[in-house]
Amino acid sequence: MQPHSPPQITVLDAGGQYCHLIARRVRELGVYAEVRPSETPAAELAGRRGIIISGGPASVYAAGSPTVDRALFSLPSAVLGICYGQQLMAHLLDGVVSPGQRGEYGLATLEIGRTAPLFEGLDSRQQVWMSHRDVVESAPPGFEVLASTDTCAIAAIGNTTRRQYAVQFHPEVVHTLRGREVLTNFLFRICACEQDWDPRGQAERLEAAIRDAAAGRNIFFFVSGGVDSAVAYQLCLRALGPERVHGTYVDTGFMREGETDFVRRVFPAVRIEQAAERFLGAVEGVRDPERKRKIIGEQFVAVQEEILRTGHYLDAQWILGQGTIYPDTIESGGTAKADLIKTHHNRVAGIQRLIEENRLIEPLTNFYKDEVRQVGAELALPDELLHRHPFPGPGLAIRCLCAETEGAPTPLDPGWLVPVRSVGVQGDERSYRAVLALDRFPEAGAGLHELATRLTNDLTAINRVVALCGSHAPLPAMRVHDEAITAARVARLRRADSVVRRITRETGFDRQVWQFPVVMIPLGDSARPDSVVLRPVDSIDGMTAQSVVMDRALLERITSELLGVDGVCGVFYDLTHKPPGTIEWE
Ligand code: XMP
Repeated sequence: MQPHSPPQITVLDAGGQYCHLIARRVRELGVYAEVRPSETPAAELAGRRGIIISGGPASVYAAGSPTVDRALFSLPSAVLGICYGQQLMAHLLDGVVSPGQRGEYGLATLEIGRTAPLFEGLDSRQQVWMSHRDVVESAPPGFEVLASTDTCAIAAIGNTTRRQYAVQFHPEVVHTLRGREVLTNFLFRICACEQDWDPRGQAERLEAAIRDAAAGRNIFFFVSGGVDSAVAYQLCLRALGPERVHGTYVDTGFMREGETDFVRRVFPAVRIEQAAERFLGAVEGVRDPERKRKIIGEQFVAVQEEILRTGHYLDAQWILGQGTIYPDTIESGGTAKADLIKTHHNRVAGIQRLIEENRLIEPLTNFYKDEVRQVGAELALPDELLHRHPFPGPGLAIRCLCAETEGAPTPLDPGWLVPVRSVGVQGDERSYRAVLALDRFPEAGAGLHELATRLTNDLTAINRVVALCGSHAPLPAMRVHDEAITAARVARLRRADSVVRRITRETGFDRQVWQFPVVMIPLGDSARPDSVVLRPVDSIDGMTAQSVVMDRALLERITSELLGVDGVCGVFYDLTHKPPGTIEWE
């Protein structure tokens, strides 16, 4: 199956965390979608059957906020604005947008007041997911208000004649239960798209493309143990054979227990570079999350450059292979306007030269994560690899939290304010705030996730809510310690993480969640300085996530084993969805 050229659907990136998820959803429905910067001139969008304008962090009336070429509304293409996209359409087409009374983050009930092709087949009440503060106050001329929620009078608008629609909610996230139907209606009913995309059955085509691009040269790979680099490496191995494809895995010391052995087992030919001491030495004593990330990134660059140089991989007969996937290319291409939430490292400076010399092979740049898994399955890579949870490059380092101040938790109704700050994302902006701890067991069905959503909406001091599963000392008697990252704390976290992994593997819980970070915070008593936070989440691709409820017996088992780990004082459960909490705490 060959995607149409030009693509039938373009998603204009107005800086939202959700923009890729929109494109991903469109592809899931069998239509290839590309992502372009929001300001792409309308002339370059000619021939699209539909244009989708994504969400974003800005306010339409703020100076310099992302916009779109107004002329695109005169193209014959159908248009769908989502979240900020709705506000932008209202603003550009002479409606009115204003700051809302209060934010609306999380689940809401949509009341559909008017039937329209976009909502065909849907009941009039729908669960939707919202993440906004600004609101459309009056619809542009020619548009009808189609739906509303309690806090948002204009939650969907449409101009049926011009085939232009906009919604304040996010149809692309799973929490909008019938979001898929809304997008299906847009693609097939409104845009009349044809199906032209299926990531399966592409391995042979990709291998042929690799042979072409290599043009007789060999390929060198940094293999991380993650799905993307593994699939890209395996494709190259199959295309050129083991003599012509070399791989190295760097052990940073921030890996999970048994990780290096795992890589050795799946890819026996990969060379292991031991760099633990060097990485630990570089971050020892560091407290600030962004500094930690930056230092680790710099170490990666230095180690990679050394390996490239000493292995003579910079010689002309070698090119570099990378597991870059579609969202990485867009984010590092300078088009994304998303506020800096976290620094990720995909294209490092030393590799820039190889790119400039066109000595780079990235076979997966058109694919999203779960599409990559489908390619990997075709290559017969083990399920254990393809379905392993994502693991961040900086590893356990960004799960080992630090604090700059000492202090006890202080009462903040209905729990305790713990002065350990973590990173969150609110209205698409980075936040770095304290945690509210509830002194009660996270019982399923007790409405604690809803409580957490309400508290993070209402209390500006926090971006997360956790519940206490068990501890050696009562919560008010614990203290936050002035702690930096140390080898001993990383080792403690690694032990805690391996306990959780073993139990969740044995019980099959790991298959029920998308990712399960185990985080350590410097909260405890004099004998046991740290506490562990469990962060099981459900997600499609990490852009949004839902904290998952765990069965009481399983949680009690994990808690009791974790309280047996040396230096662990308490065990908490993170009840925060993303947004407003990110998946990782740093
Ligand atoms: P957040 O914490 O931003 O994480 O909600 C979303 C997803 O990204 C992963 N993550 C990273 N992956 N390098 C990576 O390769 C990084 O620096 C990094 N930081 C976060 C995170 O584990 C989650 O799956």
